[in-house]
Amino acid sequence: MSYSEEPSLSSSGTIDRVQAFYERYPYPGPIDSLDQYRQLWADPQRRRADHHLFQPGLPYREDPSILIAGCGTSQAARHAVRWPAARVTGIDFSATSVRCTEALKHRHGLDNLQLHQLPVERAGELGMQFDQVVCTGVLHHLADPVAGLQALRSVLKPDGVMHLMVYAPYGRTGIYLLQDFCRRIGVPATEAGIADLMIALKSLPPGHPLEHVLRQAPDFKHAAAVADALLNPQDRAYSVPQLFEFLAQGGLRFGRWLSQAPYSPRCGVMATLPQAGRIARLAVPEQFAAVELFRGTMVMHSVVACRDDHPDGTPPYDLGEHADHAWRASVPIRLPDTICVQERLPPGAAAVLINRTHSYRDLVLPIDAVEKYLFDRVDGIRTLGEIADGVPPAMAHDFFERLGWWDQMVFDRSSLHPGL
Ligand SMILES: C[S@@+](CC[C@H](N)C(=O)[O-])C[C@H]1O[C@@H](n2cnc3c(N)ncnc32)[C@H](O)[C@@H]1O
Repeated sequence: MSYSEEPSLSSSGTIDRVQAFYERYPYPGPIDSLDQYRQLWADPQRRRADHHLFQPGLPYREDPSILIAGCGTSQAARHAVRWPAARVTGIDFSATSVRCTEALKHRHGLDNLQLHQLPVERAGELGMQFDQVVCTGVLHHLADPVAGLQALRSVLKPDGVMHLMVYAPYGRTGIYLLQDFCRRIGVPATEAGIADLMIALKSLPPGHPLEHVLRQAPDFKHAAAVADALLNPQDRAYSVPQLFEFLAQGGLRFGRWLSQAPYSPRCGVMATLPQAGRIARLAVPEQFAAVELFRGTMVMHSVVACRDDHPDGTPPYDLGEHADHAWRASVPIRLPDTICVQERLPPGAAAVLINRTHSYRDLVLPIDAVEKYLFDRVDGIRTLGEIADGVPPAMAHDFFERLGWWDQMVFDRSSLHPGL
């Protein structure tokens, strides 16, 4: 289904077809071992950064309750490995997904993981409320995504957070062309149909809108990924304005992007455009919408959201105003996957900061000598007030705010909530 069309199948028909599809073609493909993943997340700084990315205002804890909705073959088991003291619940309507996850649970002795074969729309039947709800790559396959989102909201604690990933339309233009191609000529979702489709993809003409997806997603070499993208019976995508509307319909509020720099008019090429001043005068969601249109190749949106009755409005993702000295009590924590490069620097730079999870090449941040001094003082313990001692406060505030937008740091702001 093209993103501009409304679903035409009846709800129950769609649910049955999507369920049957994932029974047959589980995606991502099943895996045997989580040993490497366990090693990666053994780093306490990685876990702490992850906690404060979602919950800057709440003290670090290792035992949250987490729901993985539409958990696929391994996502719930990954979370159980990542947070051994957490209580993780995985739900999926595909028996194949639940079976694959059960196998990982037994192989790795994951006593902190509960699994249920249950549709997202019926999450309320769990009779539980969660600190975190994770639902990635699922809601855009539902016949009624708003009903699914509302069901997930009903199991989120008032001060909990949700991590959602939904498809984005413009970068997926090529996928929707190929979906339509398959539909019109009746490519079957069978082993042979998929194998032939993979052969055809090799002959796509240069400049085809699918080209950048094939380049950036090595996954497309696997039949399961091709089937998931091109033969899925139900698939829609959300532009930034549509995503904000979707969140509002689900009773949620935008918190932050999981990765912020690609959306920020302050980062990379966007800040250098002749139109930068004009974009900066827009309301923030409009700024994000403009950046999505200019970048043109986003294939998904990963967003952190909270309930629209969250006790603080939203968790305190921003540092706050420089004049309000509260920002000085925040503790900056470096994000994993960031690097500080000190070779082949542009003129005037003491270093260049890169987040290796960014796919846009313009997202490279040069910093000067004073900024490098501040950056080097970040140890995950000192507060910004301690780090910035002797440096003009406005300069330090703006620099760390920039590091937040550039996905270099998150902030532990829990000392601002002494009652917790
Ligand atoms: C693309 S996979 C994503 C899996 C996982 N969330 C991840 O990110 O790796 C989509 C999963 O959602 C499940 N799913 C789709 N619609 C669902 C629904 N209405 N209720 C429960 N699970 C659903 C499918 O069975 C499949 O396992």
